Amino acid sequence: MSGKYLVTGGAGYVGSVVARHLVEAGHSVTVLDDLSTGFREAVPAGAEFIEGRIQEAARWLDASYDAVLHFAAFSQVGESVARPEKYWSNNVGGTMALLDAMRAAGVRTLVFSSTAATYGEPASALLTEADPTAPTSPYGASKLAVDHMITGEAAAHGLAAVSLRYFNVAGAYGSCGERHDPESHLIPLLLQVALGERESISVFGDDYPTPDGTCVRDYIHVADLAEAHLLALAAATAGEHLICNLGNGNGFSVREVVETVRKVTGHPVPEVIAGRRPGDPAVLVASAARAHERLGWQPSRADLEGIVADAWDFARRGHGRENPDD
Ligand SMILES: NC(=O)c1ccc[n+]([C@@H]2O[C@H](COP(=O)([O-])OP(=O)(O)OC[C@H]3O[C@@H](n4cnc5c(N)ncnc54)[C@H](O)[C@@H]3O)[C@@H](O)[C@H]2O)c1
Repeated sequence: MSGKYLVTGGAGYVGSVVARHLVEAGHSVTVLDDLSTGFREAVPAGAEFIEGRIQEAARWLDASYDAVLHFAAFSQVGESVARPEKYWSNNVGGTMALLDAMRAAGVRTLVFSSTAATYGEPASALLTEADPTAPTSPYGASKLAVDHMITGEAAAHGLAAVSLRYFNVAGAYGSCGERHDPESHLIPLLLQVALGERESISVFGDDYPTPDGTCVRDYIHVADLAEAHLLALAAATAGEHLICNLGNGNGFSVREVVETVRKVTGHPVPEVIAGRRPGDPAVLVASAARAHERLGWQPSRADLEGIVADAWDFARRGHGRENPDD
């Protein structure tokens, strides 16, 4: 059955890929995005676009919508440390306004982009949703605050809600891919080196207690992630706030990712060993058991080489600007 969905932040990386999946599945999609970090051309063909802020969502939300998929947020960890007020205002204040607008319009289903950053320093090798949440940045804290807000909204007002806690999202889907400014994610940074836009990659720490001394992270293909959102819409239950980690359950070290980028691009990708960054845990890997069990989600693109190849294809074609409709 086709539905009508509001996708906040649908001009950004993850939101545009999910919006595209929804359009391809035959749903009616409206993207609400203020283009603060997003790109108009990332909004997929077939979706309606509103240039506006989630703080004013009440202007556009009405009872004709079946659900909101909420991606709009600021997400630079370093910036959040320097300017925490910007993160509290947009991520928490903006979501409060969105929840108010949803309640007023009678839109009672929400899928929210939460993050592994809500956990902070991991207490176990394979993180489950039962692990303690102790974020180490205002960004992570703002996302955790929203998770708490949603739990209250579900309990008090019957919202059907799913928070998906993404680990490291990577790869591309057709003309939708990753371009943050400034870029802070490892794979696009490495691809900038391969494209000649950056001289080398900094490896932050090679003395961690991991097999090759570099940090280990869980990379999940953005298209696998998108599929989880469609499953979450179906699984959402009135009065329940379901929280699911989304990762492959496999860790890859920074060094393994660098080697994979060298192999895929054929570029030597020089590396510079830099000191550890404060707050960077040695290993961050998801247990996705709950997402398998509750959403029926199964990633099909877990192979690192495939993830890098898709991201490389997107980066080489001018970050989606060359063939916007392919
Ligand atoms: N990319 C990752 O690896 C990752 C990991 C964990 C969680 N997340 C979360 O997923 C979501 C999407 O991340 P992304 O990487 O696609 O980021 P992005 O910056 O590419 O996309 C965010 C989008 O939200 C829009 N936006 C921001 N504030 C807005 C507002 N007040 N009103 C309307 N639009 C607004 C931006 O213009 C942008 O298009 C974010 O909530 C982020 O915290 C991302």
